Amino acid sequence: MSFPLERPARLAVFASGRGSNLRSLRAAFPPGHPLASVYLVVSNKAEAGALSYAREEGILAHFVPFGENRRGFERTAARLLETEKIDLICLAGFMRVLSPELVDRYAGRILNIHPSLLPRFPGLQPQQRAIDAGVGETGCTVHFVDAGVDTGPVIVQRRVSVHPEDDADTLSARILQAEHAAYPEAVRLVLKGKVVVDTSRSKEVKR
Ligand code: GRF
Repeated sequence: MSFPLERPARLAVFASGRGSNLRSLRAAFPPGHPLASVYLVVSNKAEAGALSYAREEGILAHFVPFGENRRGFERTAARLLETEKIDLICLAGFMRVLSPELVDRYAGRILNIHPSLLPRFPGLQPQQRAIDAGVGETGCTVHFVDAGVDTGPVIVQRRVSVHPEDDADTLSARILQAEHAAYPEAVRLVLKGKVVVDTSRSKEVKR
């Protein structure tokens, strides 16, 4: 399948934490929106704010533990994705790496958001590492997910300045504001078929 679809897309959001990006996606694509709506939220953390928010909003929400390996998680997640006929998966603060098999099955249909201007500062604590590196500017990136960690083709980036008095918390809060605009923007571009993974140059997107 490829985008654009001739119907509203069905989104899933995978989140491990408070879920502010889930909220921004839900706000941008509310029920009945012509482009998309969120139909499924999956979390590997029972206490995730994302799950309680989803339940309050009447979105199907599942706690799926990772356990000792990701196989059990992915079997359950794959079943939910199929049952709910999910078109696009948005990782939003999902602190686990998906298997190459799942990434392959949903090639070009899994997005992630990361709080840095990739390829700088992939992985953990990118805000603190930006401060430590003394950069004047950082930001956020929405990208297609490949089998690596924060390595897939970039869809949208937003720049955020680093202030001299910033600590990781103040900088994270400023980046988060940018994230809340960047993620819906990237989803729109993908669903409208304006960006696709360029398979001949797998680190890039075609626009
Ligand atoms: C965001 O900063 C996101 O970029 C990172 O984890 C954080 C999740 O925040 N991957 P939230 O749960 O969406 O509020």
